[in-house]
Amino acid sequence: MEQQPGFINLDPRYAEKASQFSMELTRLRAGMEQDARRDAKKLGWDFLTRKWDAQFYVFETKWLKPAPEPLRQTFRRWFEDLKNDWSTIRILYTPPTEPESFNASTIQTVFSELASRFRSEIDESTDPVDVGVSKMRWLGRNSGFISILTDEWLKPAPPEAKAIVGRELNGLKAAIERGLEETLNHWHEKFEYHLGVADSTSVRKTEEFDLSLPGIERAIGTRHLIKQTSEELQRIFLSIGFSVVQGPEIETPYYNFEALNIPEHHPARDNMDTFFIEGAKNHDVLRTHTSPMQIRTMEKQAPPVRIVVPGKVYRRDNPDATHGYMFHQIEGLAVDSDITFCDFKGTVEYFVRAFLGPQVKTRLRPSYFPFTEPSAEVDASCHVCGGSGCRICKQSGWIELFGAGMVNPAVYGFVNYDPERLSGFAFGMGIDRLAMMKYGLSELPVLFQNDVRFLRQFP
Ligand code: PHE
Repeated sequence: MEQQPGFINLDPRYAEKASQFSMELTRLRAGMEQDARRDAKKLGWDFLTRKWDAQFYVFETKWLKPAPEPLRQTFRRWFEDLKNDWSTIRILYTPPTEPESFNASTIQTVFSELASRFRSEIDESTDPVDVGVSKMRWLGRNSGFISILTDEWLKPAPPEAKAIVGRELNGLKAAIERGLEETLNHWHEKFEYHLGVADSTSVRKTEEFDLSLPGIERAIGTRHLIKQTSEELQRIFLSIGFSVVQGPEIETPYYNFEALNIPEHHPARDNMDTFFIEGAKNHDVLRTHTSPMQIRTMEKQAPPVRIVVPGKVYRRDNPDATHGYMFHQIEGLAVDSDITFCDFKGTVEYFVRAFLGPQVKTRLRPSYFPFTEPSAEVDASCHVCGGSGCRICKQSGWIELFGAGMVNPAVYGFVNYDPERLSGFAFGMGIDRLAMMKYGLSELPVLFQNDVRFLRQFP
């Protein structure tokens, strides 16, 4: 993305610093001119130049060095401009003292020096505000360089040199006006491109930069697609009596594995290879799923339990179009004295219809998880082709949604629940996966690259 013009879109947090800084610059600038006009003859240019070098040094330590990072580059440029101002002012206020030195070659040298100073200044502008500042500096009515030139060079010029000074002065002024206008147009065009305003360049080009217009409104952000999807999922489960809880992302192996009936050397740990926290006394890991919250909740709470748990989980996956080292899940757990497989199936079907649409059908495929028995993969009929087969469902008519099952009675042993009296079901869904599916995303990384062009599509 193109960088937005810095000054105009200045973060409100920095606006005050920026205005203090520019007020200080204005103050120094006025001081320079006063010195040049009033004291140069008395104190001499060398003395004043040393004075200003010292002032610049103080200013640099006091204002520039401690400036907040996002402002420093702009401040640095303004400061360089200020230092140039001093040498320009020095040129402006030292016209030839003898009438005979007011000759064509001196005059032309000075004016072409000024022209090139203007050129390099305007070439460094980065937005319309810079152009406005240059306009003040060169064409400003009171202390603009052109008006100083008129006072210091044109008026005192001996009659035979007046014509040359006058011609050069007009030439310079015209070049400056042209340069300002071209650069301003250039930034307007760029700027409109940012705003995405089509076909208005021809209208705007002819207009001045109107400072009385309301400012550019910065769009307020929206919730990230993952967040939106997560909330959507939570709402569906809230509507049928579940509550939402959250748990830690750093887990002990006990909660992440053992208590979920995944003992130390169980092969199910393989596909949950994850990040171990170095130096942690319990060999803590970044949780590989949200299932540990099943255990933590049942430890704390007597049945019945009906919860969903949204959150981040981590696995040592190689990043590709559908994998990353981190993704989001939402876990579900329902345990009570009379929960049957029918309740499980009914809840799953209700959810799938609520999320993907009433026409979508559900199917359960046998699967395996150590903490559910029996276990199932829940598939939905393809919401794109309706089940007849397409690219999205790889011609199968079905899309795999998530893993689930009836809580394995072995798990109740870890939390002091009575396996004779209680039963329940659990499920764990990948939020990112569901979002990709529902919104037709072809790859996962776009969700985490924070490119606003992508994010804006989901207001
Ligand atoms: N925790 C399992 C996973 O991450 C999903 C799951 C949760 C399966 C609950 C069954 C029940 O793969």
